[in-house]
Amino acid sequence: MATEQKTEAAATDGTSAGGDSLTVTDNRTGESYELEITDGTVRAMDLRGIKVNEDDFGLMTYDPAFTNTANCRSAITYVDGEAGILQHRGIPIEQLCEHSTYLEVAYLLGFGELPTQSQLDRWTFDVIHHTFAHEDIKKLNEGFRHDAHPMGMLLASVGALSTFYPDAKRIDDPEERYMAAIRLIAKVPTLAAFAYRHSLGLPYVYPDNELNYSENFLSMLFKMENTYEPDPRLAKALDVLFILHADHEQNCSTAAVRSVGSSQVDPYSAVAAGVAALYGPLHGGANEAVLRMLHEIEKVENIPDFLEGVKNREERLMGFGHRVYKNYDPRARIIKKHVEEVLEATGDNPLLDIATELEKRALDDDFFTSRKLYPNVDFYSGLIYEAMGIPADMFTVVFAIPRTSGWIAQWMEMNGDPEQKIARPRQIYTGDRDEDYVPIADREGPEKITGPPARRPKRPRRGA
Ligand code: CMC
Repeated sequence: MATEQKTEAAATDGTSAGGDSLTVTDNRTGESYELEITDGTVRAMDLRGIKVNEDDFGLMTYDPAFTNTANCRSAITYVDGEAGILQHRGIPIEQLCEHSTYLEVAYLLGFGELPTQSQLDRWTFDVIHHTFAHEDIKKLNEGFRHDAHPMGMLLASVGALSTFYPDAKRIDDPEERYMAAIRLIAKVPTLAAFAYRHSLGLPYVYPDNELNYSENFLSMLFKMENTYEPDPRLAKALDVLFILHADHEQNCSTAAVRSVGSSQVDPYSAVAAGVAALYGPLHGGANEAVLRMLHEIEKVENIPDFLEGVKNREERLMGFGHRVYKNYDPRARIIKKHVEEVLEATGDNPLLDIATELEKRALDDDFFTSRKLYPNVDFYSGLIYEAMGIPADMFTVVFAIPRTSGWIAQWMEMNGDPEQKIARPRQIYTGDRDEDYVPIADREGPEKITGPPARRPKRPRRGA
């Protein structure tokens, strides 16, 4: 007959919060346990009290890729995938894109509230006056080959910032944290533009304090003569794209920043981890893939064949579907409105005709609608970047610029969270035990050394 006991955590509290609890029976022992349910979760450590005997380590959860594990409490970004809702600090993304600017959203993410006018003025002044990078960063860039991927260069230069600002190691000092936030948000566009200019063998363009954030980035990319006036329609569309990409709760790169930052390393090194994670094709590279797909389709007449290929699983419709958004991606709706404005400024782009027709046909097709596959933000963002003249290998770099504000906001939140410790997952050990050391003369094996077999899915999957 099963006996009932409370797990360690529940027993300490005595009562279940809100009366919500989960009763589980361990069929190995017949014991029942009551686990507290708080905010729709049970604490993994509560399972540790479930043991077969006193020597047993206790039960753990197995959750590769953390698909069902909350790693933190966060008040920064709310996503409801079913309803297509994205809010920062409770404010819908639609309102932010309509009324705000990227720099104001960056403040909102980091400090929890919309700034007053004087706070915004100070914040904007501080960002604009820290956009210059140390001259030695240029020397660092010069060490790269002419064809180095700009994302690899950005990764290196963001990491290098930690050596220029060693005081950032004092992560408990609020002034140091503020300066790190300012410097990262201010300098990442400069580092990104330097990487781009390096790839073209062009002289670097220094920041222009007279321009706003997105205008300044366009100027650092494209300025050729002494004067450069960014088209306000392009600058506005870029600013909206920056807002849309600023934060997306616990995605791969943000989780990387939190995990690395949990070692109490300086924020530049933690954010460099985010850049590294974003570099991967499953995360930041989807808009590049959309563009490649549109080029491969080549003309509107080829769309039916392409869609057949998708249905036969020979192709994937890039820019469609999302791990979280299952009815629509609110970011896609917003950015779609800006595509036309951008093309008005830059001239027609034949890829847009292909994209429009592709979208229309897919949305009329039961294969896609029954699987809840709708356009995501990347279906359009690549088109905008391309129309602006930004090459495809810079797309992920451009994504990293606004995501820096999300990373730093999440890093600051983590640092202030008394429940956070150094991230240190457990494992299920599957290897041998207690084997004897074999002398080299007695060992056998193939001549050729190869890596262990890859266990990745055959088709690379790209997503948030
Ligand atoms: N084209 C064709 N079929 C698809 C697609 C697609 N884009 N996405 C999903 N499916 C199919 C999939 O084959 C599966 O079909 P079935 O049930 O018959 O096997 C079904 O839809 C469910 O797909 P899933 O792979 O289980 O869905 P997921 O939630 O694991 O994948 C995703 C999400 C984003 C990885 C995927 O939709 C995808 O690969 N999309 C294309 C890449 C892309 O646009 N990524 C950008 C995401 S937005 C960026 C961001 O938020 O940062």
